[in-house]
Amino acid sequence: MSSNTYDLGLWRILRRISPEFLANLSGFYLYGMIGGSTLLFTRDNRVFAYGFNGNGRLGVGHFRFDVSDQPEEIVELRNVKIISVAGADFIVALVEDENTHKCYLLTWGSNNRGQLGIGDEDDRCKPIQIGSINFPIDKVECSQTHVVAIDCNKHCWCWGDNRFGQVDGNITNTFYCSPKLIHFEDNSKIINIACCETATLALTEHCFLYIWGKLDSCIVSHPMRIDLMNNIRVKKLLGMAKTFALLTCDHRVILIRQKTERYNRDPLQQPIQSQFLIKFLDESLPCSIVDIYGSLTYDTCNFILLSETGRCFVWNMIKSNVIETSMTSIPDVATLCTCYYTNIHAKIPPELVINNLGAFNNEFQSDLCIKTYTYSHFVRKIFVQREKLEQHSQYLREFCSNRIEDDHEEACGRKIIIRHHSYLIVYAYLRYIYTGILRIDPLFTAELYNLAREFQDNELIQQIPEFLYHQTNLCSL
Ligand SMILES: *[C@@H]1O[C@H](CO)[C@@H](O)[C@H](O)[C@H]1NC(C)=O
Repeated sequence: MSSNTYDLGLWRILRRISPEFLANLSGFYLYGMIGGSTLLFTRDNRVFAYGFNGNGRLGVGHFRFDVSDQPEEIVELRNVKIISVAGADFIVALVEDENTHKCYLLTWGSNNRGQLGIGDEDDRCKPIQIGSINFPIDKVECSQTHVVAIDCNKHCWCWGDNRFGQVDGNITNTFYCSPKLIHFEDNSKIINIACCETATLALTEHCFLYIWGKLDSCIVSHPMRIDLMNNIRVKKLLGMAKTFALLTCDHRVILIRQKTERYNRDPLQQPIQSQFLIKFLDESLPCSIVDIYGSLTYDTCNFILLSETGRCFVWNMIKSNVIETSMTSIPDVATLCTCYYTNIHAKIPPELVINNLGAFNNEFQSDLCIKTYTYSHFVRKIFVQREKLEQHSQYLREFCSNRIEDDHEEACGRKIIIRHHSYLIVYAYLRYIYTGILRIDPLFTAELYNLAREFQDNELIQQIPEFLYHQTNLCSL
């Protein structure tokens, strides 16, 4: 299953939760700007929340700034069947009524742009139902500040931030705190939706796309139809910070973004539609794609493609190329290659409940922060204990004494910056130091081998060929 994680060490926020508590979890959902807040789903159908609680985004019934001791239960969600959750500094959850089996929306958290859709702008610290749509809901999606939903009549509703026209195009109204019914030229029925930071996308049952809001500098003040060539059938819409991606039924991927023409002499002269770049990724992809996954936050310029054969690829927006990874877990690939967290309901397989990671990547039990850089230029942190590194090798002992610097931004007060190796490689190495287990995509072992040579780690150098030899089943890593 691609939404299973195989490595709880990847999420610092989970590392702070006791192993006993983790053992009863079936899954989690990380949200907020840097994944600082999490919903925890237990095997006995309860929902707990943990981490940063700004604006009441944890839904636990109080506005205290964080929940850092023990996870607290969202009692309103006990035995409630949750179909989907989406969120940023607020949450909107699609839940099923146990008697009628019809779905409705629960929401909580920040409401500064009316994104809770409950008629006012006051934050809420516990789940409240969005009551003003009088029909069962089929689907809901959100950006950081606005929400779009489809009801059972295939009508499209939108609310929240409208500064860029992402709710209904009419920027005179900077936000809507109640759901607004969106009208389309031909009274189209909407079957799929997506949000990016400043725009909204809807797919009609006849396979037309409508877009409104703002994509980079291109402003669309009412739902505008984009015709896809040759009546392409679309299976999934994905909204990311500044781009949309579409997955077609014939396993292809299309990007929709603003054309960036730096020397465009007179942009107003152009028909507005030509300002969107509709780009197929086919040429760059070696196989057909069955799912796509991305994240909403500003810090990511990559998204993940899952192939028919269970391989994952990371599409790098800046370089416009794909990086292959043979890991098949979307949550793990997401945190290693695209962002701090995974904005997906990640499932924890039963065999993972006992983990042997010790204090690895637990910032509360660490005195040293290793700062690395990903494919994007944003810093990624891994927390360790200096003593553990120093015990590992002579090289690391000297490395620590030469390279440790003060860092007043970190609670642990000390850092080492590593620039020449990616987050992924450094993570795999530090995890190996703590657990003795190599867990890395075989495609990256050459990079790890380079690191092992540089760090004069002879034991690891010897283990790498052995590790590669035994990689018969990559999925069970
Ligand atoms: C935009 O909203 C304003 C204020 O509600 C309204 O007066 C105006 O008619 C709207 N414009 C359009 C094009 O709907």
